[in-house]
Amino acid sequence: MSMVFPKWMNHFPTASALGGGAAAMTAIGVVWYYFTPSYWEVGYEPIQPVEYSHQIHVGLLGMDCRYCHTDVEESPHANIPDSSTCMNCHTAGTKLADDGTYEFDPAQTFYLNSDLIAKHHANNPNLIRLRNAYAEGRPVEWRRVHKLPDYVMFNHAAHINAGVSCYSCHGRIDQQAVVRQEHPLSMGWCLECHRDPTDALIDTNEIRITDLGAVEAQLMSENQAERGRELQEQGVIVPSDSCGTCHY
Ligand code: HEC
Ligand code: HEC
Ligand code: HEC
Ligand code: HEC
Ligand code: HEC
Repeated sequence: MSMVFPKWMNHFPTASALGGGAAAMTAIGVVWYYFTPSYWEVGYEPIQPVEYSHQIHVGLLGMDCRYCHTDVEESPHANIPDSSTCMNCHTAGTKLADDGTYEFDPAQTFYLNSDLIAKHHANNPNLIRLRNAYAEGRPVEWRRVHKLPDYVMFNHAAHINAGVSCYSCHGRIDQQAVVRQEHPLSMGWCLECHRDPTDALIDTNEIRITDLGAVEAQLMSENQAERGRELQEQGVIVPSDSCGTCHY
């Protein structure tokens, strides 16, 4: 969030006190400009009810995005996983006690190889919140990070199937402990790629579209311009910039 206000604004209160009315007008202009969604939403990373980390699950454990975001290739919307998906792993090391609390149970550990980690997990407040949500049959109430206005249509499947990776729009999620909005999601940003997508097309015969490190390396490689053009021709990929593509 530190980049929301430019450095010189540290001195802003003094400047406006001295400059009076004119400075107040400037202040309104500045606030207007910097608080236009396309500026301040970049870097948006809300605090979540459970401190789930993509860095641990994707970066460290090597999980594929589609293990959790199962609909992303078939649907306009990428789903957020239910607490039961998390419980495929996070029941390990714990058991439900008679009084409704969770206790460490060494017999149930399968991925945790040290007692210390397992005990830490049994009492971990984030994992307790996760297990409680599951036990009560409700999802974790995740706060939304990315949000387009209602008058814009977006389609995940159309992008993934054309060879545009999550990387191009969400950045290195596999390195983020907290999800952060990387790009403005403004109309100009969408159109820049729709007019020439060659920089963003990846060869899915060579790499997995959700392996963000490999995707980044391929997109940064010297022959990307040539590869992108070939892929675009082979796949007959023609993103549209007519208004009806994205607006009702
Ligand atoms: C183990 C399950 C899991 C895996 C694997 C996973 N995610 Fe997520 N993802 C979540 C959960 C839970 C949230 C909601 C909490 C949050 O925002 O951190 C989320 C949130 C997100 C969001 C933000 C959604 C919003 O609110 O705008 C994006 C973008 C995202 N994931 C992309 C990815 C990408 C890309 C990958 C693969 C590189 C991936 N995820 C792998 C579980 C997962
Ligand atoms: C494939 C198995 C697997 C799945 C599925 C999974 N996790 Fe994890 N999770 C792990 C492992 C392994 C660790 C790291 C263990 C450690 O911290 O020592 C971990 C760590 C965590 C931690 C950090 C615990 C700590 O040490 O502070 C949280 C919180 C967490 N997971 C939440 C979730 C949530 C929420 C989901 C579902 C969206 C989920 N996990 C899905 C295996 C999984
Ligand atoms: C072309 C850009 C683009 C690509 C590629 C992309 N996303 Fe997104 N993603 C977005 C936008 C834009 C939103 C906000 C959509 C909205 O508000 O309707 C979003 C939202 C999300 C959300 C929140 C739920 C939703 O659908 O609104 C998740 C989760 C997510 N993306 C995961 C992924 C994963 C995983 C991949 C790769 C397999 C991926 N995205 C690829 C642009 C993209
Ligand atoms: C990094 C490149 C890139 C970005 C960024 C991008 N797109 Fe796309 N978009 C594509 C490509 C490539 C296609 C697939 C075109 C094809 O298959 O012919 C596509 C297809 C689509 C489609 C499906 C069109 C159809 O005919 O079915 C929609 C809708 C769309 N984009 C909306 C958006 C919106 C809205 C944004 C911004 C929030 C956006 N796109 C950002 C590259 C991009
Ligand atoms: C590739 C997708 C895409 C195409 C094509 C597109 N738009 Fe947009 N448009 C967007 C997105 C995304 C936003 C939301 C921008 C934001 O929230 O900052 C938007 C916002 C707008 C707005 C509201 C601007 C504002 O600041 O309130 C208008 C008006 C608009 N578009 C008109 C058009 C017209 C006219 C065309 C055709 C010439 C067009 N759009 C084509 C994606 C697109």
